[in-house]
Amino acid sequence: MQITFRAATEADRPAVEALLQACQLPTADLPAGLPHFLLAFNNTKHLAGVAGLELYGPDALLRSVAVAPEFRRRYVGRNLFAEVLDQAVGLRVKRLYLLTTTAERYFARLGFAKIERELVPARVQASPQFAGVCPSSATAMHLEV
Ligand SMILES: CC(C)(COP(=O)(O)OP(=O)(O)OC[C@H]1O[C@@H](n2cnc3c(N)ncnc32)[C@H](O)[C@@H]1OP(=O)(O)O)[C@@H](O)C(=O)NCCC(=O)NCCS
Repeated sequence: MQITFRAATEADRPAVEALLQACQLPTADLPAGLPHFLLAFNNTKHLAGVAGLELYGPDALLRSVAVAPEFRRRYVGRNLFAEVLDQAVGLRVKRLYLLTTTAERYFARLGFAKIERELVPARVQASPQFAGVCPSSATAMHLEV
């Protein structure tokens, strides 16, 4: 399967929202213009996956990681994450944080470790995802870039 990656633009919002909604992930707090959001497409230009970064100085929130059900378990997510990690390095991000209710094991295999919410930098804790969009039961995880 040939997968290509490109940066999202505002024009991609409807497709991104549809994919996130299909994966039961929040869309209300998607930033205008979808900066630092990366998209994966298959060779028929079908949106296969999405992942986004929200930047907070040297820290960033990895959010909206989703692969369409028909493309799962074919390493779209892993390759998308590798691209996002490259982007994070280029943006001089030092630490990534995320919240997940369903994919703790998945992210652990990508190198993330669980972290107590209180230990997450204040600026990341103030993000909409931490401050209320994600359930308080969601697991916080982090990774040194
Ligand atoms: C989590 C998700 C992004 C994984 O995408 P994917 O493209 O299917 O994952 P990959 O194909 O890259 O998987 C790589 C490996 O992780 C495993 N894996 C995939 N999903 C997993 C999960 N939910 N839990 C544990 N392991 C998982 C795969 O079996 C594979 O293992 P292998 O290396 O031993 O073969 C996708 O299942 C998804 O969109 N889920 C719904 C949305 C979600 O929960 N997002 C995270 C919220 S922050």
